[in-house]
Amino acid sequence: MLQKIKETVKFLESRGFNSPEAGIILGTGLGGLVSKMTASKEIDYSDIPNFPVSTVDGHDGKLIYGELGNKKIIAMKGRFHFYEGYSLESIVFPIRVLKFLGIKNLFLSNAAGGVNPEFNIGDIMIITDHINFLPNPLIGPNDKEIGPRFPDMSEPYDSSLIRKAEQAAKETGTNIKKGVYLATSGPTFETPAEYKHFRIIGADAVGMSTVPEVITARHLDLPCFAVSIISDLGVEGKIEYITHEMVKKAAAATESAMTSLMISIMNKI
Ligand code: HPA
Repeated sequence: MLQKIKETVKFLESRGFNSPEAGIILGTGLGGLVSKMTASKEIDYSDIPNFPVSTVDGHDGKLIYGELGNKKIIAMKGRFHFYEGYSLESIVFPIRVLKFLGIKNLFLSNAAGGVNPEFNIGDIMIITDHINFLPNPLIGPNDKEIGPRFPDMSEPYDSSLIRKAEQAAKETGTNIKKGVYLATSGPTFETPAEYKHFRIIGADAVGMSTVPEVITARHLDLPCFAVSIISDLGVEGKIEYITHEMVKKAAAATESAMTSLMISIMNKI
């Protein structure tokens, strides 16, 4: 695996993707952040050796290098999901590449269903912790050069990045919530009983991504910061018929607030 990672790193460095300070993974409907990047260059995933190719509508499949705020970053416009049929190893491969390219922090965004009754559609939730209902991406032989066999998970989301984000939210006048994200495989949205179950066991929001990437990043000792855009509600009495189009639309409506917040955090790290 290390050899594949190094091969991809070498390719990206040869294309000028040098010394990025942070990585950002953009979720459903949130790819517009890249329009705020300056001096940028991009490569389609399909042109990157060893990269999987994204298949979901609303996930573009481009790796973009440039500046956001005052930081050199690499943005992943489009991520890979378990429900698309990829192995977890392929889903998390880009995270390992970003780490070996030199990123110091990983930022992630997603659209999620809110199960906390206090939440509203369009809320931005800082993820403080997670519950994983997907298979663990670290199952299989462990390479000690990548990370330990039994990684610690006592602080999956970096408390100092969360503090900086809260400060950034205050400065940009963004109202934020905090909570626990539960990752499930999808591709079905939840039944009312499933939403209720997830709430009872401690979730505030539910989605189909992010946790495999965060587990992989923590294995690499990479600090993580993640936000969910609440695109629909899994709260008794408020559950409505839902489609992927509705999720994309709700996420897009929050995109500019999410982008301002991310730029402000970049300037603080
Ligand atoms: N459930 C699971 N994943 C989601 C949801 C949801 O309600 N909304 C957006 N992604």
